[in-house]
Amino acid sequence: MRQTERSCAVAVVLFGLAIPAAAEPALPAATALRETSCRSCHGENGDSPTAMTPRLNGQNAAYLRARLQSFRYPLKESPRGVHNMGLPAGKLNNGVILALAQFYAAQPPFSVNLGKSEVGAGIYQKGTSDVPACQTCHGNNAEGKGLIPRLAGQHKEYLQTQLQAFSMGARIAAPMTRHVWFMTPEQAKAVATFLGN
Ligand code: HEC
Ligand code: HEC
Repeated sequence: MRQTERSCAVAVVLFGLAIPAAAEPALPAATALRETSCRSCHGENGDSPTAMTPRLNGQNAAYLRARLQSFRYPLKESPRGVHNMGLPAGKLNNGVILALAQFYAAQPPFSVNLGKSEVGAGIYQKGTSDVPACQTCHGNNAEGKGLIPRLAGQHKEYLQTQLQAFSMGARIAAPMTRHVWFMTPEQAKAVATFLGN
């Protein structure tokens, strides 16, 4: 190999490594999985029509990616989620997960429609003596950021169930578990009503 050819080859390899986009072969695999699996529960673009199945459209890519990674290792995460989804574990690899997360994050987000519970708004914005304000992490419009999920416009039944799952330790995520520890079921319902659709 001549010097120029060799440096070209090195450049291609390095360039390939530097791109954070999904690896090419993962795209068809992710599309096939969406069509044959995800779509039946989460809807065509992730805008799930079912109260207990979360909307994925416009959810933050980093959060989606982290959640899907955690579903690959059921013992670390909510057994309930894994059970309900029945994900074909062998088909999820890093490239497929990245492609799925990028696809759903790029879909038009679920609507922002806050304010259907005054009690819920108070908890979200100011917290209580036992529960911290959600807004400090999830954002003024509950849009989330990076690893923090968007909540505005999510199905309220799904949100309430997740809050209960965190407080019972059925879903484990350090910041949430300790924050909702002292939340009563009534408070969980109020804040889910405030946030959700
Ligand atoms: C059989 C129905 C079903 C199928 C198929 C399914 N899901 Fe789910 N999914 C669910 C349910 C139900 C939940 C909520 C789990 C819970 O309550 O803990 C969920 C949760 C999720 C979450 C977490 C969302 C959040 O807000 O935390 C992601 C991400 C996700 N699914 C992506 C996918 C992808 C990608 C596929 C296809 C590879 C898929 N799901 C296939 C039903 C399904
Ligand atoms: C210290 C930052 C922080 C605070 C404060 C916080 N959260 Fe979270 N929340 C997170 C993170 C990070 C996650 C993602 C957890 C994971 O990766 O599973 C999350 C996840 C969630 C989820 C799951 C969403 C989904 O799609 O499954 C809900 C619901 C939620 N938070 C509601 C709340 C509410 C209500 C409050 C206020 C009582 C609150 N959070 C306070 C950081 C925070």
